[in-house]
This record gives sequence, C-alpha cells and structure tokens, in this order.
Amino acid sequence: MPKQHVSISVTELKKSYKNKEVLKNVSFSVPGGTIYALLGTNGAGKTTIVKILSTLLKPDGGSASIHGFDVVSQEREVRKLISLTGQFTAVDDVLTGRENLHLIGQLIRLPDVKRKTGEWLSFFDLEDAADRKVSTYSGGMRRRLDIAMSLMVHPQVLFLDEPTTGLDPQNRIAMWDFVKNLAKNGTTVFLTTQYLEEAESLADNVGILHKGEILAEGTPQYLKEILPKRGARLHFQNEENAAKAMELLSEHGILVDGMEPNLPSLEDVFLTLIDGNEEDNRHV
Ligand SMILES: Nc1ncnc2c1ncn2[C@@H]1O[C@H](COP(=O)(O)OP(=O)(O)OP(=O)(O)O)[C@@H](O)[C@H]1O
Ligand SMILES: [Mg+2]
Repeated sequence: MPKQHVSISVTELKKSYKNKEVLKNVSFSVPGGTIYALLGTNGAGKTTIVKILSTLLKPDGGSASIHGFDVVSQEREVRKLISLTGQFTAVDDVLTGRENLHLIGQLIRLPDVKRKTGEWLSFFDLEDAADRKVSTYSGGMRRRLDIAMSLMVHPQVLFLDEPTTGLDPQNRIAMWDFVKNLAKNGTTVFLTTQYLEEAESLADNVGILHKGEILAEGTPQYLKEILPKRGARLHFQNEENAAKAMELLSEHGILVDGMEPNLPSLEDVFLTLIDGNEEDNRHV
C-alpha cells in the first residue's frame, strides 16, 4: 500500500454529552502507514475521538472516514479495516491468555487458530503465562494480551487508547518498538497518550488536544520549535560541588554526575499554546 494515501480523515467533528461540549471542532488527517499520536490530559476528549473513529459512538456534527469509508454511514466497511485496543482492557479474567486469544481467533474464523495463538503468545512474550488465568497477570501482561487480541484480525488501521499507561519504562519502550514496526509494515496506528515524550518519540505526527480542540498539530520536530524551550538538569556529585557551581559557574573542579533533559510538562505546553492563540487573536 502506498505510504501517503489518506488513511484517517476527520473534518470538523463535534460531540456533546447532554449539554457538555466535548469535541468542539476537530479536524486532522493521517497518511497510511504512519503513526499519529493524539496528546491530551484527562478529559480532553481522546477516548471520545477513538470511539467515533472506531464506530462505537456517533458524532453530532462533522464527519470522519477510514480509507474513504464514512464511520457512520459505512460502519460495516470501516469495521473490516480496523481494530481497537481500548483504554481499559477487554481481556476476560477467568480465561487463560491462550483461551482469550483462541476465542477471538474462533470468533473471526481464523484458519489454523491453534498454531497462530501459539505464535502470538510467543511474539508477545506470554508463553510462560499462557495457561494461567488472566486474573493473575500484571498490567503489562494484560496490555500485551489485549493488543495481541486486536492484532489477530490483521487490521489496516489500529487504534490504541493509551497503550502505555501503567507500563513500566522497559515495557513502554518495548511497546514503542512494536508500534513502530507495525507502521513500517504498512499499518496505520492512531494512538492516544498523556505523555509528551511518548508522542515525540513515537509518532510521525502529533495532535495536541485540549478541551475538545486541537491546539497544535505537526511533526515532533515542528512541535519542538513552537513549544516551550527545554532546559537541562545537572546532577552534582555532592552539595559542595553544587554550591560551588552556584557561586562560580565557570570554576574548575565541578563534577557533573549526570544530565537529563528537562521536558516541559503538558501544562507548560498548553500555557504556551493558549497564550500564543490569545496573542494571535489580539492582533486580528
Ligand atoms: N458517556 C458520557 N457521558 C457524559 N460525559 C462523558 C461521557 N463520556 C465522556 N464524558 C466526558 O467527556 C469528556 C471527555 O472524555 P474522554 O473520555 O473522551 O476524555 P479522555 O481524553 O479520553 O480522558 P482520559 O485521559 O481520562 O482517558 C470528559 O469530561 C468526560 O467526563
Ligand atoms: Mg480516555
């Protein structure tokens, strides 16, 4: 599949719950075989967008399509192309990992389901736990099983709602590698996240969602240019060194123990963007 066809297209999407406006006017598009990260804090509207795109919820206004199929009027076609791993896992606690996968395989009439179940278990490093009830799994193991289940259908477009929330750093990085690999093989990946760093490291394009509106959108490189400048934090070996450094920054003998990037928080990002928008408005 050529990389640059439009896989997901969203135009002026609106959604309210009762009289609470949750999505105000959301538009973006995602080229095929790329990773799009929707970045936003709790309640920004991320899951609402994922639900609309995966045909689970109807929008009040605007439109959205997957490979040209409208998510409302052509939901059957859309469902053949997509798969969703929701924010809260859909795995069945009383079944084992193997049984969960096997069941999905049977539901979608996957040929050779027994062998494929074994392959997925091994791919997601769940072989040892395969015959244990899922109720005994850790958060990371559940997440991996959940994603394995949504991949059994070989989706062309995969939705991952906060795939790494609750994962430890090692599992988070493993998940990033995995997602990058999927996209390399042509799958379009649409994911949501609350982590700026995750969006920047993983996505080809990032949309920053705040209170139901996309405040900024672009490549991580572009966002780095418009977002608040990041400093660096130095770790000194001891307080004495730190004190010296405070006094005379350019003196000799200051032992730096380490350096880590000091990322702006999501709040800093919003403040910058909102400030910028207000300035723009003032100049109109
Ligand atoms: N069924 C519903 N009825 C009423 N309000 C809802 C419903 N679902 C979501 N909301 C509200 O809509 C807003 C957006 O919710 P949504 O779940 O899309 O946010 P989110 O960005 O996914 O947040 P989180 O990071 O916590 O998962 C929130 O204020 C939420 O309380
Ligand atoms: Mg959510």
